[in-house]
Amino acid sequence: MITRSAFVAVAFAVSAASGLLPGQVRAAGDLVAFPENYAEGVRYTTVERGNIREEIFTSRAAVEAVKEGRPLPGGTVITLVDYRDGKLFRYVVMEKRSGWGVDRPPESRNGEWEYQAFGADRTVNRGETLDRCFACHKSQAGQDFVFTLDRMRGTR
Ligand code: HEC
Repeated sequence: MITRSAFVAVAFAVSAASGLLPGQVRAAGDLVAFPENYAEGVRYTTVERGNIREEIFTSRAAVEAVKEGRPLPGGTVITLVDYRDGKLFRYVVMEKRSGWGVDRPPESRNGEWEYQAFGADRTVNRGETLDRCFACHKSQAGQDFVFTLDRMRGTR
């Protein structure tokens, strides 16, 4: 009989091994790693709504591309740092890389973007349903799936 813990151990070993092989297909949502250096980029806008404050960061290269009317380049990472009542609550991150998204069905695909949600401790929040990210951001397909693209364009 295969115990649950043995099964989890095998599944973990498989996913850990696949992590060593770039280019292998990994579980959806595991493509986006925590962006450790996000704060070295540009904080291009802050959105406040009730008790929520969202500080949104991206790279200088992304800002320059948008200002010049070019698509956001492959490798672009956008990090939204979500505070509630002044306390760090979580991070949500989107990342675009050339070749990403090809395996997604057209009705959910967001170009070459992938998404991930992290807790305040920067670990992946497995409880988050990433399909929701794709579904909602798809409404912004006309501006590269980014709600705050205009704010990026207006950044100095
Ligand atoms: C119901 C709609 C909705 C869902 C679901 C959603 N977002 Fe967003 N997202 C927004 C809106 C609207 C903004 C613009 C900022 C604001 O108004 O709060 C935004 C902004 C962002 C940004 C900053 C770049 C941008 O588009 O402006 C990132 C990164 C982001 N979301 C990631 C995620 C991730 C990751 C998930 C899933 C875990 C997710 N979002 C789910 C609506 C959504």
